This record gives sequence, structure tokens and C-alpha cells, in this order.
Amino acid sequence: MKKVHIKSFGCQMNVYDGQRMADILGEQGYEETATPEGADLILLNTCHIRDRAVQKVYTELGKLRDIKKAQGAQGQETKIVVAGCVAQAEGGEIQRRQPAVDLVVGPQAYHRLPELLAEAAGRRVVDTDLPIEDKFGFLPATKPQVIRARGVSAFVTVQEGCDKFCAFCVVPYTRGAEFSRPVAQILSEVERLAEAGVRDVTLIGQNVNAYHGEGPDGAVWSLARLMHRVAEVPGIARIRYTTSHPRDMDDDLIAAHRDLPQAMPFLHLPVQAGSDRILAAMNRKHTGDEYRRLIGRIREARPDIALSSDFIVGFPGETDADFEDTIRLVDEIGFASSYSFKYSPRPGTPAADLDAQIPREVMDERLYRLQGRIEHHRQAFNAAMVGRTVDVLLERAGRHPGQMAGKSPYLQAVQIDSDSDRIGEIVRVVIERTSTNSLFGRKCGAQDDPRKEMAA
Ligand code: 5AD
Ligand code: SF4
Repeated sequence: MKKVHIKSFGCQMNVYDGQRMADILGEQGYEETATPEGADLILLNTCHIRDRAVQKVYTELGKLRDIKKAQGAQGQETKIVVAGCVAQAEGGEIQRRQPAVDLVVGPQAYHRLPELLAEAAGRRVVDTDLPIEDKFGFLPATKPQVIRARGVSAFVTVQEGCDKFCAFCVVPYTRGAEFSRPVAQILSEVERLAEAGVRDVTLIGQNVNAYHGEGPDGAVWSLARLMHRVAEVPGIARIRYTTSHPRDMDDDLIAAHRDLPQAMPFLHLPVQAGSDRILAAMNRKHTGDEYRRLIGRIREARPDIALSSDFIVGFPGETDADFEDTIRLVDEIGFASSYSFKYSPRPGTPAADLDAQIPREVMDERLYRLQGRIEHHRQAFNAAMVGRTVDVLLERAGRHPGQMAGKSPYLQAVQIDSDSDRIGEIVRVVIERTSTNSLFGRKCGAQDDPRKEMAA
């Protein structure tokens, strides 16, 4: 068999796309390998969201050129493919900067990988079309043994692209306009996953709660309706979704957090900043107080919900007072976790041309302070778990013999003392202590395993 090494940068959608490319290449006789050395095909699945992500790609490509050269000297041909959002944004520029690259393929064209690879024999090829056709219809189904190897938690892309046009963000340009997969297609993918042992699905999309896919009844289905239907798939015990926009949190979706037992009490709902002036300049279409009220309604529906957000510091024009508004919002909401970034001007986005770009030192200082507050609230959220009983989905063997590792409903990593349980089971666990990145607990019972009903 030929070997392919796939390295994904960036978001969960890239992880998903990387897996689907592995599925396609599997059909072409490639098996995955963990290192680039020895691979016949090396595929970088890239991220364009911030400048540093792009720089990483070029650094990585320099190393791959050396591997390709060394393997060539040994008589082994090596192909280098750049996929993902840098491929989309930079196109042929990638091969001008790094001639060792054989093929550049955008995120909406990777279902054509087999043909493109054949074309790229002996010459360089670029395919960054953003076609309206649905690439998902062309992807081969993931094989059951591959699903099992990937584990009991899986991502399923249900939506792609974004029509929101936040002033800082490159996604509407790299991933294109909003597109929702039809319900039937998503269901057959979830059913295959569940049959191979998946218990926990995360429905993903750049703006997933704007989902509006065609239902089997011909009507347009919302994300809430889709979640209710996915919850009926035998074996699926947990449903999450990411990433959401505050403007698209409709009443049905909020109600699902109250009414649907499979809807996990975790929500990633980026707010980006706390100052209304900056939110307006970012074209976020909501104010700080609108976000606070929305969180209030979500917490009313599901009081224990863990919330998380993304933040950008140093957006052009951000004053000290604006930044204090962000800190105030963070302290008021008390997020269970959050990501935070320094603003990075992206070519082609409206914010890149704004005056009043913020000096690096100011951004560094603000990021440091913000991350301190975020970490404080994360630790507080985790510490409050001690003494509580939670359901833990067992995902893998633990760090030490006699331990197993899994996830709490709040997306926390949990280590339990047990080696007698099966991966994929959900057990009741009393949390006894926390460390920086994990909770530790003791098993105190088993939750019903829906798979037993399936077998009966
Ligand atoms: N600079 C910094 N952070 C950005 N993000 C998106 N674009 C930029 C940018 N130009 C962040 C946002 C988004 C997350 C995925 O990345 O916070 O929610
Ligand atoms: Fe990065 Fe956005 Fe592309 Fe994901 S969609 S890889 S976050 S640029």
C-alpha cells in the first residue's frame, strides 16, 4: 500500500476535512501514516485565520521540501499537496513560494483529489474553485474499521461557509457562502458512525446555528430540528454543535438545551469583544447587552450550561476603555473556557484597511491580562465540579494502568480509576479533585447503555 501523511491545522472543520480526504485516498490504495518521513503523499490541510497560521504552513513546507529531496535521492517519489484555507486564499502563489508543492486544492474541491493527483503527475496543479455543487455527495462513506479507530466521539460537518462578514474574518472568502447539507445525507452519516460505535457527535459548521438544510419532507429544517432527529439515531447519546453566532441562537435551539437530553450542556458562542463601539466596528450585529440577555435566556433553559467564547484583542481603534468592557463582560459571564487572540489583519477583509491599528506591545499586554481572567474563570468552573456526580463517556485508556479517560457533559477531560469498563460506555463518576487540565473521579454506577437495547 502507498502511504499518506495528513497534517491538519486550525479548526475542527479542518480535522473533519482531513478525515474525509483520508477516506478518499483510502479508496485509492493509500494508508495513513503518522510521520511525513517515508510517505508517498504528504498533505497539509491549512488554516488562514491568522497570519501566524499562514507562516506555520510555509515553515512546514520548507521542511517537507527537504524530506521530498532526501526521499528522491533514495529513489522514492514524494508528492506534496496543500489543501484547506491557505490553498484557497493563496492559490498558485504557494507554488511560486515553494516549488516542491505538486498540488494546491481548496476546501470545496477536495472530492476531486484522485483526478487532481493524476493530473499533477509531472506538472503542478491548482484547483481552488468554489463550486455550488455539493462535494459531500461525492465523498465515499467512511469504513467501519476507520470509524472505530477514530474513537467514540466524532465530528460531522452539517454546514459550511459564512454570510456574516465580520470585518476581521477571512472565512467568507476562503470557505464561501453559507451552505447546509441536506438532512438525509447527515442522518445516513450519523447512522454509519453510530453503527460503528460512535456515541458523541459534534455537528460542525463555520456558522452552524444558521443551519437551514433541506428536510426529508421538503421543508427547511433548523439546527434544533436536526438535533432532535439526530437524537433518535440508536446509540447516539450526546450531541454538541460548534461554532455558533449569537444572532442565530433561535428559541427552538435554546429550548433544545432544556428539552433534549442528548443536547450536552456546553455551548461555544463567540462574542469577540465587550465594547459596543468595537462590536459595531467588527460588524458583529449585536451589542454587549444583547449578548448578556441571550446568555440569560440560555441559562434559564439550562442553568448548569458551560459557556465558552472567542475573543480578539487589539481590533483597530480599540481603546483601553473598550478593552475594559471586554474584561467586564468576561467577569460577568464567567466562561468555563475561552480562546483569545491578538488581532491579525487579513488581506482582503475590511478591517485590514482601517487606520488606528494597535501596536504589538499593547496587544501583548491586553492578551496577557485577558488570558489571566479567562484562566481564573476556567479554574473556578472546574473547581466547582468537586463533589458533584457527572456522566463520563469513556474514550480511551488513561495515562496510567488502571485508569480510563473520558469526557464530562461539560467537555472536560476526566480520568477515572477503572480498567474494567469498555470504551464507549457512559459511567456515573463522583469528581474528587482537579488538576490544571483534568478532573479526577471515582466511578459510582453505570448509565444505561442504549446499545444494549439495540442488541436486544
Ligand atoms: N485576527 C484574530 N483573530 C481572528 N479570528 C478570526 N479572524 C481573526 C483575525 N483576523 C478569531 C475569532 C474567531 C476565531 C475562530 O478566530 O475570534 O471566532
Ligand atoms: Fe482556519 Fe477558518 Fe479555515 Fe477553519 S475555516 S481552517 S478556522 S481559516
